Amino acid sequence: MRIRVIDGGRDASGDGLLIVNAGEVATLAGGLRAGASQGDLALLRARPGRSPTGPDAPAVACWDGRIEVVGPRGEVERRITEGGRSLASFQRLDARGGTITPGLVDPHTHLLFAGTREGELQLRQRGAGYLEILAAGGGILSTVAATRAASDDELAAHGRRWLDEMLAHGTTTVEVKSGYGLDVDTELRLLAVADLLGRRGPMDVVPTFLGAHAVPAEFRPRPDATEAYVRAVIEDQLPAVAAQRIARFCDVFCEEGVFSAEQSRRVLRAGMEHGLRPRLHADELGPSGGAELAAEIGAVSVDHLAAPSDAGIDALARAADAGRPVVATLLPATTFFLMSSHYAPARRLIERSVPVALATDFNPGTSPTPNLALVMTIACLQLKLTPAEALAAVTINAAAALGLEGEIGSLEAGKQADLLVWNVPAVEQIPYWPGADLVRFVVKRGRVALVRT
Ligand code: NIG
Ligand code: FE
Repeated sequence: MRIRVIDGGRDASGDGLLIVNAGEVATLAGGLRAGASQGDLALLRARPGRSPTGPDAPAVACWDGRIEVVGPRGEVERRITEGGRSLASFQRLDARGGTITPGLVDPHTHLLFAGTREGELQLRQRGAGYLEILAAGGGILSTVAATRAASDDELAAHGRRWLDEMLAHGTTTVEVKSGYGLDVDTELRLLAVADLLGRRGPMDVVPTFLGAHAVPAEFRPRPDATEAYVRAVIEDQLPAVAAQRIARFCDVFCEEGVFSAEQSRRVLRAGMEHGLRPRLHADELGPSGGAELAAEIGAVSVDHLAAPSDAGIDALARAADAGRPVVATLLPATTFFLMSSHYAPARRLIERSVPVALATDFNPGTSPTPNLALVMTIACLQLKLTPAEALAAVTINAAAALGLEGEIGSLEAGKQADLLVWNVPAVEQIPYWPGADLVRFVVKRGRVALVRT
C-alpha cells in the first residue's frame, strides 16, 4: 500500500472533478442533525441490483473548489453539459464501488505540543488518576515545559507530521488549540504555528485559544494560584491573543480541581468581549457545572461530557428546544485511553435532541490518536451510536461545532468540495474495520490531496 500526499495551498482549486462509480454517497445534506435526524445521512445509491457503473449510480461533480452537482451520474453529466461546460474539462475519478462521504471534520484537538507521555500509560495501569498525575507536576505540565523549550520550526514539523496522519484517515478540517504554553509568548507562538500550517494546506486549521488549560508551575507556589492565573489569562493573554487576530474561539478546562464554573465563565465572557466565541472542556471527570455554563453563555460546543449532571443535560436540552443548540462534542477515545468505563451519555443526549459531534481530542496525554474513523468505532461500541449517527457526528455536526456548517460537512451544491472516497462499499463498514486505512482518495477544495494505491 502506498500513500501519496499532494501539496496544495489554501487558495489552490482545481477546475473540474467528476467522481463516478460510487456504491453510495452519504451527502449529509440538510443541516445540523439532532434527535431522530442524528442518523439521517441523506444517502444516494444505485437502485438495488444495479451496478455502480450504471447511469443511475450516484456521482459528484466539483468545479473550482466547490461542489457543483450530486446525483445519479446521467443527471450530473446532463447538468454539466447544459451548464455550458464540456465533460472533457472534468478530471474523472473512479470510486470503484466505494463510498463517498464529506471530508471529516475534527473539532477538538491539541495538535501542537512537544515531547511524549507514554510513561503515564504505565502509571495508569498501576492505578494513578489523571488529576493526581497533573497535581504531581506531570500530565499537562510536563508537556508545557517541553513545549516552551521547543522552537517554532520543531512545533511546525511535529504539526505537519500529525496533520498528514489525520489527512490519511480522512480528516480535511481540524480545530487546533493552544494551551501548552500558558504564558503570553508561547500561547501566541502556538497560535501562529497553527495558522501557518493551515495556510500551507491542504488541511484547513481552525485555531482556538486555550490559555485556561491548567495553572502553570510558576503560579503554583502562590496561595491564590488559580485566581492569579485566571487574572493573567484575562488581563495579559487574551488582549494579546485578540490583537494577534488568529484564534477564532476561546476554550477553558472547566473541571473540579482545574478551573471552576465561575472562573470559566469569567474567562469565556472576557473572550467574548474580544470577539472569540466560547467552547468548553466540561464535565470530563465529574459534574462541574460545565454543561450548565455552556447553555447559559451560548457556547458553540461543549466537549467531553463524560459526567454531566442531570441539570446540565436539561440545560442543553432546553437550549436545543429554544433553537440555540450547543453541540455536544464527545471524545470517547479519551475515555478509552484513560482506562475509564465512564463514557458520555450519548443516547440520553440524542433522546433529548442535543446535537452530538465526535472528535479525537488528539493530545499527548489522554488521546494520542489522529484517527477520527477509529473514534467512530469507539463511539459505536461504547456510546452506542449507530454508524450513521457517528458519521453525522464527524461531518455536519462537527462542522457546526466549529460554526462552519454553511461551508463544510456535507455534499451540497455551493459548499467547499472536501470529500472522501472510501475503500468500502457502505457507510456501515467505516467503523467496522477499527484502525484500518480505508480512505482511497481525499479531495480537498476540489483537488485530489491524497491517493492510496
Ligand atoms: O481534553 N482535559 C484537558 N485537556 C486534554 C488533555 C490534555 C493533556 O492531558 O495533555 C483533554 O483530555
Ligand atoms: Fe481536549
